[in-house]
Amino acid sequence: MVNVALPKGRLGEKVYGMFERAGFDCPSIREPGRKLIFENLEKGIRFFWVKPSDVAIYVERGAADIGVAGKDILLEYQPEVYELLDLKTGICRMAVAAKSTFRDDRSKTLRVATKFANIARQYYSGQCRDIDIIHLNGSIELAPILGLSDVIVDIVETGATLKENDLIPFETITPISARLIANQVSYKFKGDIISAIAAGLKGQVKDL
Ligand code: PRP
Repeated sequence: MVNVALPKGRLGEKVYGMFERAGFDCPSIREPGRKLIFENLEKGIRFFWVKPSDVAIYVERGAADIGVAGKDILLEYQPEVYELLDLKTGICRMAVAAKSTFRDDRSKTLRVATKFANIARQYYSGQCRDIDIIHLNGSIELAPILGLSDVIVDIVETGATLKENDLIPFETITPISARLIANQVSYKFKGDIISAIAAGLKGQVKDL
């Protein structure tokens, strides 16, 4: 049995479609309800829905053999997992944004609001920029508007959230997409089936 952690939500549903088309389907997952675990005994595959930011934890600790996590989570938490494939879906970018009136004064500490403290720290240390991280859990866009921070480091997908809150993306830190990840021990002992799944999914990846 291969245990697969999928991110709950729109991305997870898209990614499950890729598994299905690759021949690793589990029809019961399509039934409406609040169940979290689904298995197809015949195919030897079990899926479970996990909060997107938790997928890497399940995979790192072996509760799941493989999973699908955003590159943002992998960069932020650096879990000890193998990254097998860029699924080229869930595409967005990690960016620095601020009010249009913002002008950086390098003589002052830059106040950065973010959920991604490690990504922000690494980015600004590469620029030798002195920063103060303000760690928030959501609605990051509020911080510069209310004067809590100078800039934000956050995910930008369509740009609509920034636009509707009168913020401007200033710099792109890195592109982000969903990745297939594997537990390091599982990859050794269930290598055949994991490789077959990765190859099947690779056939579903749309080249950009
Ligand atoms: C992310 C991010 C932005 C928004 C960007 O939040 O924090 O708020 O998406 O998307 P857009 O560029 O298409 O407007 P998410 O929806 O993941 O919710 P969260 O704040 O709970 O992380």
